[in-house]
Amino acid sequence: MQNYRKDFPTLNTLTVLSSCSQSAMSNKALEALKDYQESLVGSGMDWIEWMNVTNSAKRKFAELINCDVSEVAIMGSVSDCISSILHSLPLSCKDVVTTDMDFPCIGQSILAQQKKQDFSITYIPEKDEKISISYYNKYITENTKLTCIPHVSYYNGFKQDLKAIADIAHSKGSLLFVDAYQSAGSVTIDVQETGVDILVAGMQKYLLGIPGIAFMYVRKELAETLEPSTIGWFGQKNIFGFHHDLLEYGEGANRFNTGTPPVVNAYVANAALDYILSIGTDKIESYLNELSAFTLEEAQKRNLKIASPLTVADKGPTTAIYCEDGNKMEQLLRSEGIILSARKDVIRLAPHLYNTKEDIIKALDAIERFLPETLALKVMK
Ligand SMILES: Cc1ncc(COP(=O)(O)O)c(C=O)c1O
Repeated sequence: MQNYRKDFPTLNTLTVLSSCSQSAMSNKALEALKDYQESLVGSGMDWIEWMNVTNSAKRKFAELINCDVSEVAIMGSVSDCISSILHSLPLSCKDVVTTDMDFPCIGQSILAQQKKQDFSITYIPEKDEKISISYYNKYITENTKLTCIPHVSYYNGFKQDLKAIADIAHSKGSLLFVDAYQSAGSVTIDVQETGVDILVAGMQKYLLGIPGIAFMYVRKELAETLEPSTIGWFGQKNIFGFHHDLLEYGEGANRFNTGTPPVVNAYVANAALDYILSIGTDKIESYLNELSAFTLEEAQKRNLKIASPLTVADKGPTTAIYCEDGNKMEQLLRSEGIILSARKDVIRLAPHLYNTKEDIIKALDAIERFLPETLALKVMK
């Protein structure tokens, strides 16, 4: 997808392969930032326009995952989303299932909520860089109230079958919470087809936006049975009623909205989602699968130790390479203008539609070259 490169000015000077952390910014997203700035300067205050743009971003996220706009809440982060869901569920004497592959904020929020409600926690282990679907059958029980999974692992890119897991969870009476932060924008997601109950994603990674905004899908019939306790005036039925002595939850997932939305982040989200939708996630996913296969092949040729699944069908676009000291590797690559993101003992190649096979080769060659330095650091510690 060579023709998209011109839309990302950062690529003129850097090789950016860090979509698992922060993607390159498109001209459209950068212009949207400027639009907000100009509205502050030119209009002073323009709530009508600011809310129009914010609601437009929300509609586009709904389109991206195929749901109704009333099923989407605007939040500040994925951490906020999981905390809010846990607060709103009666968990006493129940079980919450999570996995060893979830991003830490999921497990941390579950532990914090356990201080308020008396429930047990089951951790589904990973084995050989994956979680076997049979584990969901084994670990989710009739007592499970909520099952939390990542769609794609932040650490090694392992991708899970949402429909199969939703079917298992529902057959045991559990709700399914999906953290799609590492998949949204790079993989086609259809919440209706897969049947997930709650799905969350921030904008900063494959959605080509910036931090400070996340969207949370909650199936409408479910949302209307939930009573969040972390709330705000934007989560009320009549936002501008200004009734301090009345609590009336908004329609569907809107009840999870809290205070004034992150308007500047929504400007960028609106432009970034527009860009993704105009290309189509099917097309993006298919190109990223091609890059994924290429990365696996080239990494194996160089005898690099791969921490990701070795089959494209089992993974999102991210490929993780063991290097012992990931942070050191990240710094060394940065010194050559190659931007990758580390997690613990791996360095992650996370391409997007603007990357090429040449970018992958450049990064892998540099990783191979720097590897003795990061391995030696570990030995010396
Ligand atoms: C899969 C996943 N979930 C959640 C987070 C954290 O999200 P937030 O900072 O919005 O809470 C990350 C950040 O890297 C992530 O990769």
